[in-house]
Amino acid sequence: MKIFVDSADIEEIKEAYEWGIVNGVTTNPSLIKQALEKRKEKGENIDVKTHISEILKIARSTPVSLEVTEKKAKDMIPQGIMLYRTFKSYSKNIVIKIPVSPAMKEESKNDYEGIKAIKGLSERKMLVNATLVFTPEQALLAAKAGATYVSMFAGRMDDYLKEKHGLKAKKEEYYPMEGINEKGRILEDDGIVSGMDLVAQTVELLKQHGLKTEVLAASLRNKRQVREAALVGCHAATIPFKVLKELVMHPKTIEGMKKFSEDAPEDYKKIK
Ligand code: G3P
Repeated sequence: MKIFVDSADIEEIKEAYEWGIVNGVTTNPSLIKQALEKRKEKGENIDVKTHISEILKIARSTPVSLEVTEKKAKDMIPQGIMLYRTFKSYSKNIVIKIPVSPAMKEESKNDYEGIKAIKGLSERKMLVNATLVFTPEQALLAAKAGATYVSMFAGRMDDYLKEKHGLKAKKEEYYPMEGINEKGRILEDDGIVSGMDLVAQTVELLKQHGLKTEVLAASLRNKRQVREAALVGCHAATIPFKVLKELVMHPKTIEGMKKFSEDAPEDYKKIK
């Protein structure tokens, strides 16, 4: 499974790439805003274009997703092309992130604009990451339109299930993949029982139809979701830096490490 870092923070991305196991970066407008504010608070005079070019330099031509802000296909397509042209001197692997549906209310004329934009950009041989995907059927349409990746928002799916069923739990708290049984009934949203179930069903659906689009498990909040994404054969997971760090930690690893360090004979340490 490919590992992407879900961040726009230069220090986090730099550190993650130094581990040597990162295959790409995903950003979104909220992550870019947070990262820029952090730099400005430190007194840096930084603009968004320079910031993005710094991310691309660290990512050294691994895929970096940049999201459009427009909401009509006729505007999203040129914005995607513009983002690509602006940054292509830093990387050929710029992936344009397109919301699967940019509608901002139930009754909207923008419902299908995302699918049209995905089709328009993929026809122009551009890499597209369909984002804000919450159903396997949205993923199917995005895949048929030629998306390179479909970003399945597992954590936000769990948030939705919690809200819908009045459950209280912290965002980062693990939500069981098999769902929660309340009074003999598994809580669900149209047959999806958890964020990781959403990922699993999408992997299965795309596989059954031989679609080449890669499933990208996104909005991950804890390390167990990463394991579950890998176990269901998900192609890629985009992981916040905090969760990436959790992946290498276990209390017994720390305990064992302390003991081995204490026990190591002095002359063993000096073997040359
Ligand atoms: O990968 C999408 C991600 O950035 C959203 O994460 O935790 O805000 O739902 P989150």
